[in-house]
Amino acid sequence: MSSIDSASQFQKHFLVVHGIFLTLWCPSAENTNPLASLIQQVKGGCHRDHHPLSPLEASPCRNHDGHMPYCAGMSAYIEGYTLLDSGEGRKLEQFGSRVIDRPSSLSTWRRREPASTWDSSDAFYNPPDRWDFSNRSFSSWDVTIEGVRLQLELMSNGQLGIFPEHALYLPKIKAAADRLRSSSEQPLRVLNLFAYTGLATCYCAQLPNVSVTHVDLAKRAIEWAKKNASLNQIPDTSIRWIVDDALGFMAREHRKQSLYDIVIIDPPSFSRVSKNNSWTLEEKAPDIVELTLNVLNPEAGAVFFTNHSTASTSDVVRNISLDMYNDSGVEIGIESLSLQEQKTTRLLPAGSLISLFHCSR
Ligand SMILES: C[S@@+](CC[C@H](N)C(=O)[O-])C[C@H]1O[C@@H](n2cnc3c(N)ncnc32)[C@H](O)[C@@H]1O
Repeated sequence: MSSIDSASQFQKHFLVVHGIFLTLWCPSAENTNPLASLIQQVKGGCHRDHHPLSPLEASPCRNHDGHMPYCAGMSAYIEGYTLLDSGEGRKLEQFGSRVIDRPSSLSTWRRREPASTWDSSDAFYNPPDRWDFSNRSFSSWDVTIEGVRLQLELMSNGQLGIFPEHALYLPKIKAAADRLRSSSEQPLRVLNLFAYTGLATCYCAQLPNVSVTHVDLAKRAIEWAKKNASLNQIPDTSIRWIVDDALGFMAREHRKQSLYDIVIIDPPSFSRVSKNNSWTLEEKAPDIVELTLNVLNPEAGAVFFTNHSTASTSDVVRNISLDMYNDSGVEIGIESLSLQEQKTTRLLPAGSLISLFHCSR
């Protein structure tokens, strides 16, 4: 067995043990056997007592009143990605075959790996726009993250074309798709907003009986996402590609009464739509929530909203959503997203996920 194989065996073992620990440890007032409750959630029909769309597959904890956890943490090892170490303002990450050393303002702790490990990274980012190389220079390479093939690039702003924390909740999207699809013969309509290079788009497009609409303001991001779709042998025509302002698009879709079963939305902290139109997520959150829920199938639907702004923005998003549903027939949970370091139990914070599930039938 190669060292990569044994590392991945270890990771799988850790996840299984970690998952069982969570399942057995978390109290549940609904069912004295939390595992049976979890299975019921996964298999159950669409009725209110056991909410069928709860993301319990990945976070089986329930509060004493039987509701979804208001706030919990989510971290897991990600196939194709490893956080090797972090500290002293930087992070050392492996994406497929390449090790990348980049700034990380949150990494205020000490490093655990020796300097020699850091020094042997393949690429080192010097802000504002320079990449240095320990051996041969390169500009792009392919990786497979959670089964999705992606081309990554060393961009001048230090980005690579992926935010790995978004791979953490792909299984939750699949679980929601499975449940929603079983209640309808129609293809499931997924809307991916601020969709960047298309990790979630390509993931969803490979699920059975799903149609995906991918929206991003930047033509370059759309071109990149199309390239990723073709790397996954997804026909260009099976995804609807929209170069547009996500808010304007949702407003138009609402006027046309177009509806979606799943909305995935990753708004940036700041957006400049045009010379005279820019916003921060804090100020735009109420509009964004309203627009999102207006295009969600009113019978049953799921929203995965990620927030990389302030923690309070997640509360704002949750409160406005609860208001729009009058607190009824909807479950909304907030989970922090973190990247798990390979050899320690330390977590690198990476924003939060607000999961909304509703079912009116
Ligand atoms: C991945 S999201 C932001 C990631 C992360 N949430 C953050 O705060 O940095 C960035 C994507 O949103 C797109 N974007 C920015 N403003 C937009 C808008 N008004 N409508 C649609 N896409 C937009 C950008 O082109 C980019 O691909």
